[in-house]
Amino acid sequence: MSAALQTLNMTRILPGPVPVTLIEHANLSIGKGEFVAITGPSGSGKSSLLYLLGLLDRPTEGSVMLEEKETSHLGSGELARLRLAKLGFVFQFHFLLPEFSVLENVMIPMRKLGRLSGDAMKTKAMRLLKSLGMEGEARKRPEQLSGGQRQRAAIARALANDPLVLLADEPTGNLDSKNAHNVFEIFRGLAEDQGQTVVVVTHDPHLSEHTHRQIHIVDGRIVDA
Ligand SMILES: Nc1ncnc2c1ncn2[C@@H]1O[C@H](COP(=O)(O)OP(=O)(O)O)[C@@H](O)[C@H]1O
Ligand SMILES: [Mg+2]
Repeated sequence: MSAALQTLNMTRILPGPVPVTLIEHANLSIGKGEFVAITGPSGSGKSSLLYLLGLLDRPTEGSVMLEEKETSHLGSGELARLRLAKLGFVFQFHFLLPEFSVLENVMIPMRKLGRLSGDAMKTKAMRLLKSLGMEGEARKRPEQLSGGQRQRAAIARALANDPLVLLADEPTGNLDSKNAHNVFEIFRGLAEDQGQTVVVVTHDPHLSEHTHRQIHIVDGRIVDA
């Protein structure tokens, strides 16, 4: 299995009068098509690890490799471009833009990447929404959706540029258990039917047991992967 994301002896220390070690010597390899959970207690460093994997933060030591390519030498502009083209993000709060329709929200990453015509973007956004059972909501504003629908719209937006890896930080934190399981089933379907690599942070063992593998972290250290 070829690796989508790897870390090599990755450490992240926040500088300051009292430096804070967020992640210590993390060695990980996440294969293409894997559906992986990052689990651990509150404050253990799950979000910190996801941000490093998602190139939203940089290690103090060691490296993050995307498709086996080192990223540590890249400038912030190049990292932003790489995130846009290769990574999709879903957070606990959906961050959909309230003044735009669901369809327009899903098209935003495509517009930023600028590879498709307007018609092709619209067709693709509709196809993504349809695959998530959201075609009836395409013209609505985010405020007109239920919580579960908003997260599905956020997932569609995260998939807009066919990311190598979908990264999600507690994406079900605001959902009831039925909608939470629904989101995990969507992720599993993406991995198993389409070979989508998915990395999801959750502190809920009822949800993480539905993934292929769990990376367990305690006090910034990977204790089981
Ligand atoms: N910017 C920051 N400044 C100081 N401490 C931080 C900062 N970000 C995270 N931390 C601390 O690092 C630890 C790990 O945080 P985080 O990755 O958010 O954990 P988790 O997502 O598992 O709850 C926590 O103890 C948190 O308080
Ligand atoms: Mg967190």
